[in-house]
Amino acid sequence: MYKTHTCGELRVVHAGQKVTLAGWVHRRRDHGGVVFFDLRDRYGIVQITINPDVSKETLNVVADVRFEWVLQIVGTVQKRPAGMENPNMATGEIEVIASEINVLNPAKTLPFMVNNGDTNEADENTRLKYRYLDLRRERMRENIILRHRVIKFMRDYLDKQNFIEIETPILFKATPEGARDYLVPSRVYPGQFYALPQSPQQLKQLLMVAGMDRYFQIARCFRDEDQRGDRQPEFTQLDLEMSFVHRDDVLAMVEGLYTAMIPAVTPHKKILSSPWPVLSYTDAIEKYGSDKPDLRFGMQLIDVSDVFAKSDFRVFQSATEAGGVIKCIVAPDSADMSRREVDELTEVAKSFGAKGLATLAVTAEGPKGTAAKFVKPEEFEAVKSKVGAKQGDLILFAADQRAVVNKVLGGLRLVFRDKLDLADKDVMAFAWVVDFPMFEWNEEEKKWDAAHHPFTMPKMEDLPKFETNPGEIFSDAYDMVCNGYEMASGSIRIHRRDIQFKIFQLLGLKDEEIQLKFGHMLEAFEYGAPPHGGMAPGIDRLVMLLADEPNIREVIAFPKNSGARDVMADAPSSVEPKQLKELHIKIVE
Ligand code: AMO
Ligand code: AMP
Repeated sequence: MYKTHTCGELRVVHAGQKVTLAGWVHRRRDHGGVVFFDLRDRYGIVQITINPDVSKETLNVVADVRFEWVLQIVGTVQKRPAGMENPNMATGEIEVIASEINVLNPAKTLPFMVNNGDTNEADENTRLKYRYLDLRRERMRENIILRHRVIKFMRDYLDKQNFIEIETPILFKATPEGARDYLVPSRVYPGQFYALPQSPQQLKQLLMVAGMDRYFQIARCFRDEDQRGDRQPEFTQLDLEMSFVHRDDVLAMVEGLYTAMIPAVTPHKKILSSPWPVLSYTDAIEKYGSDKPDLRFGMQLIDVSDVFAKSDFRVFQSATEAGGVIKCIVAPDSADMSRREVDELTEVAKSFGAKGLATLAVTAEGPKGTAAKFVKPEEFEAVKSKVGAKQGDLILFAADQRAVVNKVLGGLRLVFRDKLDLADKDVMAFAWVVDFPMFEWNEEEKKWDAAHHPFTMPKMEDLPKFETNPGEIFSDAYDMVCNGYEMASGSIRIHRRDIQFKIFQLLGLKDEEIQLKFGHMLEAFEYGAPPHGGMAPGIDRLVMLLADEPNIREVIAFPKNSGARDVMADAPSSVEPKQLKELHIKIVE
């Protein structure tokens, strides 16, 4: 080994010992004759002192040494003189007096500093181009280590619960999760393609048919979809599936895992409530205007249509006459918002689909705001008491069709969360959202889409609605949500051929298309498929929240940039004409 100890482990108890260390030059200071520098490795930082009285030779070597050179140091651990200790460093009570320095490798000047915290952070593409340097930074290293601990915990926990980890193929067939597929052309079969799995959905179900009973996998998924802060083209799920279970068995298993894991990997994070609240999809939308509500703060949406049933306010009247509703949220201590701020909020509301934004500020002098002159005194009193608004609060109204109103107020609720700092980042407000609609109407293509995926079991009591109103069929699908993010999705699956066939038909697939795409699933269901269900929590999103990062890119070692490129290796990139020819591919300009 190049070293006897790591840089982070040395303490006063090591004083007097001769040690050999290896690492990177993190910082350096010259103090007339004596040179100090910090040597860094994955485990920490230690101060190295070059004293010419101890070794003239080392002073000569160190003269050239710059940031991020890789050195091997032989020296003696010494307790620092009184008053020279550094309480901010784990190794701050000692220093290593060097007797020998070997330069293992010099380094060019780096494109960005890796030793100065997050001040002056380089731009995204520079960081990603030199990701191996970016990962030297403490924050990034800690994120990657946290990710390891999360995955390790999951593996150990599930192993104890009798789950087995099974790898499934990456070269497979399209398995639909609603995104575009990444395709891999076949050399052997001209004109034919594998698809990279959007998830191992079908394979894990087939493992249940195979009798595996409890499966999990740290599974890579590939989806060609628009990028966002919480989306990457390839990402990782804790994919799991169980046989002979009902919904609540799956939820209890995953809730148990997360409840044990959070304090073990991030003791400073608090789970808001245990057991986790369970909301129906409809309730989540009505109360929070979102199917992934942030439950760390209140500001629920309140229906006040009844209060304004006889309103003279044209905006409220026309909404109710058109079959819509009037709902509001109460922003605490925001009555003194300026006209300009309200105008800005109105623009935000419009971006969510609102026609406008009516406000009532509760002030000592009575109602103020854009709706003040249209609202009767008794209506003002009634709305205040219904929503529990106090002096200093601002009531914001949306009047429109129900879906629009929920979306607008749900969006504004999050704007106030950030503006008023209403949500504690160290609180994890986990909840289950259950009872989703089975289908969503796709207005563009004039057809029904599966709201979760087509393998989800519809509620048995809704089966008769297949022929009459598919929009009213609910399913046994569920989501785990936390702090405004969708953290996981899952469902009880269809295990009967006849129901699965019907669902495919309803989704607009022709019989031969069903056979071509999903024949293997339908056939498997005819050989004794057990009832089964499962779920897939996103690992990137979880680690992102636990690490207080705004983007999953920060918790993935080698992510794509926002344009879905790998800027380090420069991929995607062109290939040799010979390769294209082998793959029977012609590029059309
Ligand atoms: P779903 O498509 O909802 O379900 O995905 C499950 C979870 O995976 C995470 N996730 C993503 N994370 C990062 N980048 C992405 N592009 C991305 N897309 C999804 C989210 C999400 O909740 N097979 C089903 C699961 C099942 O039914 O068991 C599935 O993949 O955290
Ligand atoms: P107007 O009479 O159109 O000037 O609207 C009066 C106030 O109501 C303005 O502050 C508008 O922004 C607001 N407003 C207009 N349409 C709606 C709506 N659908 N919901 C809530 N407020 C609205």
